[in-house]
Order: sequence, then structure tokens, then C-alpha cells
Amino acid sequence: MVDTKVNLSGWELDNPIIPSSGTFGFGKEFAELYDINCLGSFSFKGTTRDPRFGNPTPRIAECHAGLINSVGLQNPGVEHVIAHELPELGTYFKKKVIANVSGFSIDEYAYTCEQLGKQDCVGLLEVNISCPNVRHGGMSFGTNPEAAAEVTSAVKQVTDKPVYIKLSPNVTDIVEIAKACEQAGADGISLINTMLGMRIDIKRRKPVIANRMGGYSGRGIFPIALRMVYQVYEAVSIPIIGMGGVSTTEDVIEMMLAGASAVQIGAANLIDPWICKKIIEKLPETMQKYGINSLKEIIGGAHNG
Ligand code: SIN
Repeated sequence: MVDTKVNLSGWELDNPIIPSSGTFGFGKEFAELYDINCLGSFSFKGTTRDPRFGNPTPRIAECHAGLINSVGLQNPGVEHVIAHELPELGTYFKKKVIANVSGFSIDEYAYTCEQLGKQDCVGLLEVNISCPNVRHGGMSFGTNPEAAAEVTSAVKQVTDKPVYIKLSPNVTDIVEIAKACEQAGADGISLINTMLGMRIDIKRRKPVIANRMGGYSGRGIFPIALRMVYQVYEAVSIPIIGMGGVSTTEDVIEMMLAGASAVQIGAANLIDPWICKKIIEKLPETMQKYGINSLKEIIGGAHNG
């Protein structure tokens, strides 16, 4: 009998599989397909203080090995999420969830985290300083170590829940930003968000996406995400949630060997909505195949050589 349990800042998860924010909504549509209580947890739709309509359409462009999105943080706002989404979520998901938070100012991040941090169903806060699709917010906090540290310490002051900072790969040195977050009190790091990309419609001679550019995710970014998890693991001593193009049980094991304590699955949910369930069911067999008794024991295992 293999042990698939993992631990994030004192919170024990049955397994490391976590659907990523923005690819799983509040879980409702997926709960109609299968019992989502098999998941380790899930990171719900990125929430801001105020409701947001999002970016103009088209917002999605298909690519080789993935897709580009420019959703623009569409969400109903924190008040609605607390009053409606979370109570409903509690009827079909019995575990704690990850609250993904975005913002346009330090005060906004702090306010939204304070409100969501008070909710019993929230196991940890994932603070997104890496959305590439909005101006004056999102990624602008995640491309500068001082700004990343400022958001981190502001959020830490308003909640007792663990705070994980979600980082952008669209930077020269992700390690420097991860270290700044750790020094400012972050309990963990989530990485990576999407990579800035674009497609052009040859017939129209125009960008496919109305906002011209967007975040590229899917299998194509897996080696880059893996490399960044590996580098950040060597520089920080807080847990890492690894993500970026993860689509198979082997990808999950690789992410954990690179240094991830848990693994998020994003774009793959959009291709196969049962993918997380399939990966969870196959995990024990894959662990046996590679002689792994406990997933906790392999975290960072590729750094030994
Ligand atoms: C979006 O809403 O534009 C995507 C969120 C993100 O990339 O952080």
C-alpha cells in the first residue's frame, strides 16, 4: 500500500493533485461529472475585491501543445463569492479549498485576503501576483522583488491562514522573486503561471486575441515550469506547489522530484475534464512502478546527485 499523502504548511492532503485556478471554476461543473472529493484540494477561480467582466473577446487562442488565454480575471467579486459560491461549494466539496486572490493595489490584495481568510472552508490563500492579462495589477507585482515582498507582508498581516504567492515565469530571475516573498513571510510559493504569448490570424493579419497577447499554458510549458520549480527549490525552504503543463502521473512525479510538495493541473482539465480523477487513480500504480512508497519522501529527490 503506497502513501499518496502530502502536507502544505500543516494541512495534510490525501494526494498532491490540485486543479489550478481558472481551469476549474468553483468546482460545480466538475462535481456533475465525478465526485471531486477525490482531489487533494482545488484552487478556486481567481477572486478580486470588485466584480470584473474580464477582457474583450476573443480571449482564447489554440496553440500547439496548449492554449493562450486572456480572460482578464473575470469573477463576481469577493462579496458574491463569500455569500453564494462558497456556501454552494460546501454542498459538493467536503475538504478545504485554496482561495486564489488577485488585485490591483496592495490594499485590494489585503482586503480580499482578509475576507477569504476568515472562511472556514479556506485551507490556504494563493496570492496571484502573476496574471499577464491585466494592466496596473496582477503581474506588475510579480516582476519586481520589492513589490512582491510588499504584497506578501501586507497579506500576512491580515490573516492567520498560510499564504502562498503565485509567481510569474515572465521574469529574468524567478529565484530572486521567490526569495523576496520568503523573506517577507510567505508560507509557500506556487509556480508557474502562464507564459506571455500570442497568435496571429493570417487571413485577417491581426492578433487572434482581442487583447493581442495572453498567457500560454499546456504541455508545451512543462519543461520550463519544471526547471523553475527545480531552481526555486534550491533557493527557498518553504513548500512549493508546482504547476505548468502537468498532464500525466509521470509529470506529477517529475514535479515532486524537482521540489514540489503538491502539483496543480490546469490546461489539461480543459482537454479532458476527468484528467485529475484519472491521475489520482493511476498514481499508486505509477508509484509502485518506480519503487516509490511515499510521495513525501521524493520531494526534491532529483537534487541529490
Ligand atoms: C486571467 O484571468 O486572465 C488568467 C488568470 C491568470 O493568468 O493569472
